[in-house]
Amino acid sequence: VTTYSLRSFGAMVTDEVRMDAYARALEAAVRPGSIVVDIGAGTGVHTLIACRLGAAHVYAIDPNPAVELAVESARINGFADRVTIFRGLSTAFELPERADVIVSDLRGILPLWEHHIETIVDARTRLLKPGGALIPQRDEIHAAVITAPEDYEEAAGPWTRRFDVDLSAGRRWTLNSFSKSRFQPAQMLAQPAHIASLDYTTVTDPKLDARVTWTVERAATAHGVGAWFSTELFDGIGFSNAPGQPDAIYGRAFFPWQNPVDVQVGDQVTLAFSAWLVDDNYVWHWKTEVCSRGSVVASFDQSTFWSWPIDRDYLRRGSSAYVPPPTADVEADAFVLARVDGARSLGDLSDELQERFPERFPTRKSALDHVSRLARRYG
Ligand SMILES: C[S@@+](CC[C@H](N)C(=O)[O-])C[C@H]1O[C@@H](n2cnc3c(N)ncnc32)[C@H](O)[C@@H]1O
Repeated sequence: VTTYSLRSFGAMVTDEVRMDAYARALEAAVRPGSIVVDIGAGTGVHTLIACRLGAAHVYAIDPNPAVELAVESARINGFADRVTIFRGLSTAFELPERADVIVSDLRGILPLWEHHIETIVDARTRLLKPGGALIPQRDEIHAAVITAPEDYEEAAGPWTRRFDVDLSAGRRWTLNSFSKSRFQPAQMLAQPAHIASLDYTTVTDPKLDARVTWTVERAATAHGVGAWFSTELFDGIGFSNAPGQPDAIYGRAFFPWQNPVDVQVGDQVTLAFSAWLVDDNYVWHWKTEVCSRGSVVASFDQSTFWSWPIDRDYLRRGSSAYVPPPTADVEADAFVLARVDGARSLGDLSDELQERFPERFPTRKSALDHVSRLARRYG
């Protein structure tokens, strides 16, 4: 889970496009007496709005310590008895009663971000009353071929010859990653294409797999594909991050090509676009073919999988065939965990650890630090 700073939460709260729509959606969905769950509550702005609208109780959930602010703000606003916070992931949260409304904004630049979809599926099935309201209800992803010399320069520009040394090796990685952009309608070289619908009331699969073809309508140097989302938060209330719409915090995503391509009116650009959730993040794959008068003039196969050096050893150590060695660390951790019995304190455990492994833990503090880290990990 991305750990946002208080400043980032401040920027979210002051994004009028996003906040006005969320406030209107809450006004439409929350009734006096509603039970509300605010997933990814951050500093609790949605929680407080729901209280103001008469919610009987709001559960504000976030692993980020910023959620503690929701307690203080609830008190300042006179809502203290109606707010409960849970500092952790919603997937670990047990709700004493099912919710009438679940509100969240777990997106990044695009809605396919970390465990967003799985989180909503879990919340919808475990925490929401039948017929309860989900905010957002649905997101739509669109994309277009764009000319974006500045975004492209930002990605590829640094990786050239400088100070008489060749830095071009960086280009391969940087052109396999996407970035936040603010490209405008005039930069689109073809009509936007619909890439995906995410209906949060029914979605089950976190992956994206789309194929689109654009016909170029304006000759220019194309630099890649731009993508954005529009949302319906609740019954007709929403906003769009499409180019030309008022700027919201999310921006738009720019997926660069390996090389810029001069495209002509009538050229066809085909994109196979996928996103797979691997561990905690999406691996994006964009495979492009540009055809001019029946012949392929450019083809690129790009993925965020190639945006960083792959640590083969790290991957190997996660495979089913790998046999982990019984290292001194394994032995020490196993020793501590076997002694956790609901009676021994961290002090007791660290004393025993130090006595058993005096060379590894020469001071009481080093043993206590180690035992505390283990204890925090297991809650
Ligand atoms: C984009 S911020 C939104 C903050 C606030 N709700 C707002 O709209 O201003 C998303 C927050 O969701 C939290 N988050 C992500 N997955 C979560 C989960 N499964 N359970 C609880 N919080 C989660 C993150 O820690 C982050 O603080």
